[in-house]
Amino acid sequence: MNMRRQTPAATATTSNSAAAFPRTRMRRVRAHEWSRRLVAENSLTVNDLIWPLFLKAGSGRDPVTSMPGVDRLGLDAAVEAALEAVRLGIPAVALFPQTPVHLKTPDGAECTNPDNLVCTALRAIRKAAPGLGLIADIALDPYTSHGHDGLLEDGRILNDESVAILVAQALVLAEAGADVVAPSDMMDGRIGAIRDGLDAAGYSHVQILAYAAKFASAFYGPFRDAVGSSASLGQGDKRTYQMDPGNTDEAIREVALDIAEGADMVMVKPGMPYLDIVQRVAETFRVPTFAYQVSGEYAMLKGAMDNGWLPADKTMLESLLAFKRAGASGVLTYFAPAAARLLRGE
Ligand code: PBG
Repeated sequence: MNMRRQTPAATATTSNSAAAFPRTRMRRVRAHEWSRRLVAENSLTVNDLIWPLFLKAGSGRDPVTSMPGVDRLGLDAAVEAALEAVRLGIPAVALFPQTPVHLKTPDGAECTNPDNLVCTALRAIRKAAPGLGLIADIALDPYTSHGHDGLLEDGRILNDESVAILVAQALVLAEAGADVVAPSDMMDGRIGAIRDGLDAAGYSHVQILAYAAKFASAFYGPFRDAVGSSASLGQGDKRTYQMDPGNTDEAIREVALDIAEGADMVMVKPGMPYLDIVQRVAETFRVPTFAYQVSGEYAMLKGAMDNGWLPADKTMLESLLAFKRAGASGVLTYFAPAAARLLRGE
C-alpha cells in the first residue's frame, strides 16, 4: 500500500462522519458559474491542440468521404490551413500524404524523395508560417504498394531493414524543415536509430514524438481511406507490429523503451477508447504525453453531430477535455480548427 496516495484530507473525509451530508453538500460550489470556474481542475486551451493535415498532389481540396468536414489539401490549400492554424493560435500541425498510386512501391522509396508531398509542403509552410510547429510522420504505409508501415517479405514485416529506411526518411524530413518527427510505425528500436541518425547528421535539435503505445485498432479506417493505404492493405492487418487492444502493461514497456531510446514526447493512440492507457502513461512517466483522437473517433462523433444526435460544440469540447483530465499534455485532433474557434469565442 502506497501511503503517499492517501492524503490527510482524504483520510479525514472518509473517516470523519461529521463532514458528511448534510454538512457537506457537493452541489454548493456547483451552484454558480463563477465558483464552477474557480474549482475547475482541468481545462482545454488552444495550446493543447495539434491539427493533422492530409496532403494530396496538385492544388485545391478533395473531401475525405469517411471524415465529413476534412479535406485532402493541395499545396496551396495546405499553406492556407497552416496560416489558419497560426491565426487560431494552434501550436503545431502534423502532415500526412496521399501518395499518388503510381509512386507506391514495395519498399516505399518515395518516402525518401526530398521532393515528395510532405517535404514540399514542409518547405512551403515553413516559408509562409515560420513559427508554426511542423510535425512529420515517419512510417512507410503511405508509400508502400502493400500498405504496411515496414518492408514486407514472405508475409513478414522486416524490422531492422525497415528501421534503416525510417532513419533515411527522418533525415529527409529534417532536411525539409520538420521540427518534430513522429515515428508511427511501431518497429522495435526505431527511436534510438532515428535519434542517432539525426544527431550524426547535425539535426540534434529535431524533436521526436514517438507513437509509443499504438494499438492495432479498427478506428484507423477513415485515415487509411484519406491517405489511400486501405486499398493497398486489403485484408492485411498490422497485428505483428501494433499492440493488442487488450494490453496495458505492454504499453508501459513500449513507452519506457521509447523514452530510454531518446523520445522527447510520447503518444498513445487511439485516444478515447484508450484513456486508461493515457492516464497510466502520464502518471508513470511524467513526460510530455499526447493522445491521438484518431480518424474513427472523429468519424463517429462527427457522424452523430451531423445527424443532430449529439450537440456538436459541447460534445467536441468534452471529448477533448477528457484527454486533459487523463493527464495528456495535448491532443492530435481533426477537430483542432473547430475547437480553437470555439475556445476563442469565434
Ligand atoms: C500510419 C498511421 C496511421 C495513423 C497515423 N499514422 C494508420 C495506421 O497505423 O494504419 C492513424 C491516424 C488516424 O486514424 O487518424 N503509420
